[in-house]
Amino acid sequence: MAERDDIFDEIIDRANSPSIKWGRYQKEKVISLGTADMDFHSPSCVRNALIKKAESGIYAYEYKTDDYYQSVINWFSEHHQWKIKADWLTNCPGMWAMLSLCLRAYTRPGDGVLIHAPHFHPVISVIEGAERKVVTQALSFDGVRYSFDLAAFEEKIVSEDVKLFFLVNPHNPTGLLFSRAELSGIAEVCGRHGVLVVSDEINSYLTYGHAVFVPYGSVSSESSLNSVTLTSPSKAFNLQGLTYAIGIIPDRAKWDKLEKIRSGLDFDFATNIFSVAATTAAYRDGAEWLTRLNGYLQANLDFMDNYFRTNLPQVKLIRPGGGYIAWLDFRAFQLTPDALRHTILDKAQVGLTWGETFGKEGDGFERINFACPRETLHEGLERLKSAFS
Ligand SMILES: Cc1ncc(COP(=O)(O)O)c(C=O)c1O
Repeated sequence: MAERDDIFDEIIDRANSPSIKWGRYQKEKVISLGTADMDFHSPSCVRNALIKKAESGIYAYEYKTDDYYQSVINWFSEHHQWKIKADWLTNCPGMWAMLSLCLRAYTRPGDGVLIHAPHFHPVISVIEGAERKVVTQALSFDGVRYSFDLAAFEEKIVSEDVKLFFLVNPHNPTGLLFSRAELSGIAEVCGRHGVLVVSDEINSYLTYGHAVFVPYGSVSSESSLNSVTLTSPSKAFNLQGLTYAIGIIPDRAKWDKLEKIRSGLDFDFATNIFSVAATTAAYRDGAEWLTRLNGYLQANLDFMDNYFRTNLPQVKLIRPGGGYIAWLDFRAFQLTPDALRHTILDKAQVGLTWGETFGKEGDGFERINFACPRETLHEGLERLKSAFS
């Protein structure tokens, strides 16, 4: 069995807290393996940076320092061999807010925005909230793994007159990690049809097995100049409540366009100084902790895979290339989404993210979050086993 780790084995009781992941189940004795945050403390480098900021007693307007820019630039250079520049960067309070800005900057009401299905549900509210048209391409699934069909992608772009492609890499919820060749193909097709690529890479900081994450903007000059990369250390370092996302926009005209919309919302002058302090510390000093976390999560993933194979073989785990959510195929039970949810939530007392919220392609599936102590994960799996036996 996989190695233990004192830091990540610690059980932190979040049940009676305002945590969205756990607090919603306060009255029931539910184990929450849903909402994508982690049941681990953030690394001490982040906590110390926040304490220092809090103790300063000065919470006034601040510009971003050279240390901030250098930390972000070094992270991408060291971890992804992508040489980005300070004047490519922008930021706002969260990934969805950043996608919202992109839709307003680069598309018009009624324009088609392509996403892959199954899809993470808030993305629909963001696109429809901006009065753009949601166009979906179902990822291919052979019962074991998901894949991406470039020819079908191009057909969709043409037939639906798509203007912007929202790539999620690694994909939420299937965990599909796009290869360099697939990204090159996307760049060619999107270049040919004048489609801008907005690439959400928030789940790219943790990868498993031999999987290698390639930033979309690093693939070629075409992909670089025709893209906006959205990223954040929030998932990997558990900073979701600090609400911060970074945009990387190599093309100056595109950067200027976004800035026009962004400045109207005052997202620069009024950037949260705690978010910047945490982000700087995570990128500058967090790599060692992240490697350790990655090892623990790899072991959790292997543990879960083995558990299902041995104890509940009807449930098929689709192994993610990255992130800490995994897509589970419960279709062998032939239950309706309501009956499946009832068995998992009411009988097993386990909270997952319900498959039907990911569109019709999610029926019969559920999403599990394995970023928790192994003991918690084990207890959740035992409960599932009893409920389905
Ligand atoms: C792929 C992906 N994009 C965006 C978000 C939302 O990020 P934020 O809370 O910064 O808006 C999430 C959160 O789970 C996510 O998984």
